[in-house]
Amino acid sequence: MIYFDNGATTFPKPRCVAQAVGSAFDRYGANPGRSGHAMSMDTAIKVFEVRDALASLFGAQNLQDVVFTLNCTHAVNMAVKGALRMGDHVIISDLEHNAVLRPVHALAQRGAITYSIAQTFPDHSETLASFARHITPSTRMIACTHASNVFGTVLPIEEIGKLCRERGLLFLVDAAQTAGVLDVKPRDWGIDFLCMAGHKGLYGPSGTGVLITALGSSMQTIIEGGTGSFSGSFDQPDEMPDRLESGTVNTMGILGLGAGVSFVREKTMRALYTHEMKLATEALAMLRDIPGIQLYTPGFGFGSHVPVISFNIAGKPSEETTAALSDKGFALRGGLHCAPLAHQKMGTLETGTARISFGAFNTIEQVVQLCGAINKLARG
Ligand code: ALA
Repeated sequence: MIYFDNGATTFPKPRCVAQAVGSAFDRYGANPGRSGHAMSMDTAIKVFEVRDALASLFGAQNLQDVVFTLNCTHAVNMAVKGALRMGDHVIISDLEHNAVLRPVHALAQRGAITYSIAQTFPDHSETLASFARHITPSTRMIACTHASNVFGTVLPIEEIGKLCRERGLLFLVDAAQTAGVLDVKPRDWGIDFLCMAGHKGLYGPSGTGVLITALGSSMQTIIEGGTGSFSGSFDQPDEMPDRLESGTVNTMGILGLGAGVSFVREKTMRALYTHEMKLATEALAMLRDIPGIQLYTPGFGFGSHVPVISFNIAGKPSEETTAALSDKGFALRGGLHCAPLAHQKMGTLETGTARISFGAFNTIEQVVQLCGAINKLARG
């Protein structure tokens, strides 16, 4: 199977990730931060090292601002439900994944908040103006994706962060598609809640995610329980990261994520991004020549897109295309990609799109094979 579904989760993982997970089974299998024995302490140190690596990669002010979560969706839910109050208004973008749309919509359905959807445009100043137009006296947060998981479009996060600071708004960024791929600077860009998947561009195992926030102590919790600290108190501690990390953490996943972060640091984000963008640009050029192909990614701008191509073959539902390609040995995702707003915007809500998403281990030979298979399929 030739894998082009890295937007869903990266595969394969670097060897060092499997080795780190193995080392957790072999040597760091105790409960970190719970017991005083040697293996528990050693395991806690290993988990601490990963927190430290993430804090340093994303420039977090304090190590305690880094919270391990199950995935990006979990991080978004913690932030949205933990920071918003009754009567607040939130602005999201028209490219949101359900990870952002659904928690915001659920709070609105319960009558707790209201929300608006800002339009995005290729011209960043128009996108900014659209966000600004939706601000009302009740607006408390802008919550938006860094890059569309369907069309690869990157939003002007730095500028939106500036707008949030000027207008006194909280800023949540869904960096599921960009963490480990593009620079994200929460402190410099005024991001209050940076939500990430650990298993995509950071190359960790599934079941890992990260929330970086300096506001954790003042957030409401969506999960309470044992933290291994202040155990005599009935109340959830205010101290971070304990406040947001109840229950035993995913040690195996976290150590794997640590190795993924090391891989990214060693290769460098820039080199990984450049490699994937080169492949995506080549693929786009080959696909353009195929009759009957509808492309939804007009062209790639370095820094303004992540390497994701959405397409359809005339007359075929996207899932039929991806099923046919799967039969030929290619892994792509079809359908709506959990992002109905983005498809509504692009007019692809009925058909969905077939999506090619690139990772560190894809090669130009694989791209040539894939485009050959798509060509054959399109020509019937
Ligand atoms: N959000 C992931 C994707 O785009 C799962 O496929």
